[in-house]
Amino acid sequence: MRWPGAEARASGAVGMSSEIGIALLGAGNVGSGFVAALAQGRERHASHVGAPLALRRVLVRNRERNRPGIAEGQLTTSIEDVLADPHTQIVVELMGGEFPAFDYIRRALVSGRHVVTANKEVMAKRGAELLAAAAKHDVRLLYEASVGGGIPVVHPLGRDLLANEISSVTAIINGTTNYMLTAMTQQGAEYADVLREAQRLGYAEPDPTDDVQGIDAAYKLAILCGLAFHVQLLPEEITRRGITALTARDFLYARELGYTIKLLATGRVVDRELIATVQPTLVASNEPLAKVDGVLNAIQIEGDLVGRVVFEGPGAGRAPTSSAVLADVLDVARDIVAGRSERPEPARRTVRVRPPAEHRARHYLRVGVLDQAGVLARIAGALGDNGVSIASVIQFETDEEPETAELVLTTHFAEGGPLQRALDRIAALNVVRDVGMVLPMVGQGAR
Ligand SMILES: NC(=O)c1ccc[n+]([C@@H]2O[C@H](COP(=O)([O-])OP(=O)(O)OC[C@H]3O[C@@H](n4cnc5c(N)ncnc54)[C@H](OP(=O)(O)O)[C@@H]3O)[C@@H](O)[C@H]2O)c1
Repeated sequence: MRWPGAEARASGAVGMSSEIGIALLGAGNVGSGFVAALAQGRERHASHVGAPLALRRVLVRNRERNRPGIAEGQLTTSIEDVLADPHTQIVVELMGGEFPAFDYIRRALVSGRHVVTANKEVMAKRGAELLAAAAKHDVRLLYEASVGGGIPVVHPLGRDLLANEISSVTAIINGTTNYMLTAMTQQGAEYADVLREAQRLGYAEPDPTDDVQGIDAAYKLAILCGLAFHVQLLPEEITRRGITALTARDFLYARELGYTIKLLATGRVVDRELIATVQPTLVASNEPLAKVDGVLNAIQIEGDLVGRVVFEGPGAGRAPTSSAVLADVLDVARDIVAGRSERPEPARRTVRVRPPAEHRARHYLRVGVLDQAGVLARIAGALGDNGVSIASVIQFETDEEPETAELVLTTHFAEGGPLQRALDRIAALNVVRDVGMVLPMVGQGAR
């Protein structure tokens, strides 16, 4: 088994020093937090690992920027500089994005360096290739911070819950959207207003697309499903819907029904097939995930032995994310000192991912109608003809147009295909203004 640290020490390259050399790719929000945490805990880390950790090269785009805790001589804009350093044993990638991060991580692994990354995009899209490269070159690739920021979930899934057959993973894994949905719930505000406020507070990016369209959550769900179910799942195989079409009225109606609206990322195995979705969902108010508010994240896992466990905490941020990155670094560093060998992850199988037409769920429907007798019977007819039965109906007056109303219906369990056929028929009825919103429901609310 070839270990860069052991090899370097054996060859005398590290000399008398038993330092573990670390290179950092990216010194932005998380990278600067990592540098600070590394310095702050120096002695504790050395005694924990059995050797001091030493920050060596730091790769950035812009060398001119002031970077506290990083000496001018450590900075470089060239990956060649980083990889040419014989004393670097661990490469910490905190640049983000697929390119050039994928290439840099792969090169680091091939050169015999262990890699720690917080990069959900690269792990979701290219994780299989990178993990295979790590196994081939007898090094480790750790990625705890890529899901849930400071919340430990990658390691618990890969180790502590390994004895379980996991049946489902249900998660709130995007802090930006959870902050926005919480504000819509608590303030009765509209989407555009809460987005503006989230941007002002720095919780949402100037371009919020990845967050509000569920792309970021899909990356994290792909990683979670890979670990939980030992399957290969790409982000594009996940059924994904963002939060942009939600209105203040949906939150009001959800509350009437005893639910709250969350952007849920869900992975479930049914008959050896996978259902993976990221979508706004009505969650019954008595469910643990309904109470996860603001920028917090939570991941709920159901296993056959352990039952239900919920991991909750700060899903992002400089210090919490550094906590997860540094934990991975300490883990690898301890292995280097102990001379332990690489531990490949369990093999992953390919799996059929069910299309939305085959997803079974209860649903919330908001339908704008003309306020006339017989409307409900025609809607119920369209649903019934497609085998979708109604669980409850509430009529709300709206002040948008005179002589119109809004019907909020909930359904019993139905498959997506028949439901869509019913909705197409409902949308075509001359007494219907629009099918305003269709959302899945989980848990048992008041109605
Ligand atoms: N922010 C969070 O709370 C959080 C939470 C969990 C996971 N993560 C993940 O952590 C990673 C880093 O996020 P962040 O928020 O710290 O990002 P960030 O603030 O944008 O920092 C990115 C850093 O990478 C450097 N960089 C980017 N592209 C580069 C390139 N092509 N060559 C050299 N250097 C390059 C930048 O250099 P310059 O400084 O010169 O521009 C910057 O220092 C991402 O994968 C992100 O998804 C972040």
